[in-house]
Amino acid sequence: MGLFSRNQLTEAKVLDALRTVQEPELGGDLVSRKMIKNVVIKDDGVSFAVELTTPACPLKHEIRTACEDAIEQILGVSREHINVEFTAQVRTHGGILDKAAIPGVSHVIAVSAGKGGVGKSTVAVNLATALAREGARVGLLDADIYGPSIPLMMGTTGQPDAETGPDGQPRMQPLQAHGIKLMSVGFLVDDSQPVIWRGPMVSQLLRQFLYQVDWAPLDYLIIDMPPGTGDVALTLAQSLQNVGLTGAITVTTPQQVAAIDVIKSMEMFRKVNVPLLGIVENMAYFVAPDTGARYDIFGTGAAARLADRLGVPLLGQIPLGMSIRAGGDDGRPAVLSENSDAYADVFQSIAQRVAARVSVLEHI
Ligand SMILES: Nc1ncnc2c1ncn2[C@@H]1O[C@H](COP(=O)(O)OP(=O)(O)OP(=O)(O)O)[C@@H](O)[C@H]1O
Ligand SMILES: [Mg+2]
Repeated sequence: MGLFSRNQLTEAKVLDALRTVQEPELGGDLVSRKMIKNVVIKDDGVSFAVELTTPACPLKHEIRTACEDAIEQILGVSREHINVEFTAQVRTHGGILDKAAIPGVSHVIAVSAGKGGVGKSTVAVNLATALAREGARVGLLDADIYGPSIPLMMGTTGQPDAETGPDGQPRMQPLQAHGIKLMSVGFLVDDSQPVIWRGPMVSQLLRQFLYQVDWAPLDYLIIDMPPGTGDVALTLAQSLQNVGLTGAITVTTPQQVAAIDVIKSMEMFRKVNVPLLGIVENMAYFVAPDTGARYDIFGTGAAARLADRLGVPLLGQIPLGMSIRAGGDDGRPAVLSENSDAYADVFQSIAQRVAARVSVLEHI
């Protein structure tokens, strides 16, 4: 309105106002996150661009409104004089931090959990298989070096073929099961030998698994992360920063205790600027096969509330199911089973949501 004059308004003032606007998904303000570009002040208003790293489309609207509110309230510029544009960071191979993306691999998705035993590997295995059933080319990397479970859950044993590549580095062929390319430390070491991996060895091994395995061509590489938020998980999260990790999924059970660890696990990815694709709630409830009665064994709503609070989607709720457990033990993922207590449709819909969220991230 009439309050607007070029003399009053400076880029610094605009930036100060925008410092009050939080990035809804990742936290921190837009200016500190270096997301505000090209502030231009003209007689007819102020314009600037917001460089998005991760947000899904719905967040754009939220960010725009928050920016307009801040400038209107703090600097007295009415919103019709504010022009907010959006740009996205340049990315290839699906990764924002594309310094060393894996050639021929479009999307890398980490499946993590704050706690052990919540069903991380079950989700990773079924997500991979469900994506493959959708027609995608999928790889599954077992980064849980202390407790590799992919060989058992995918029903595969054996040693990967290795040869020396043109660059003089060893190259490994992934094993295959159910149409999915697989790599696990379980294929390389004897089960009966205790494995003691220290931090640097862990990153070294992960690098080999990422770069010295013939993954390409893949649409999705799913990584089953080690449980927890300790040294090993953190080291891996940091190493993955350079892979152009598309995003992370966190698995939790409805217990509040697990939820606290979930926040830590998500913080870990947030610290290394990896977008959170969402939360999967596992063992969410139990339906008695004989009566059809539903039991909310651990209570309800905790994961939904957490997702809400963190501003990330709840990608799905998987009930407890005998066939899910059996599928894991038999090396045939539940998503391939026809049994109703395998909840194949639930896993399939989680995979569809993940794929949708990934493509939204890519096409901002
Ligand atoms: N929804 C479910 N219904 C029934 N059993 C399940 C379900 N999810 C997981 N399980 C079973 O619970 C056990 C632990 O699951 P899983 O190995 O996937 O967890 P994890 O988080 O990967 O554990 P770890 O921390 O040891 O890696 C397995 O026996 C698995 O088959
Ligand atoms: Mg596991």
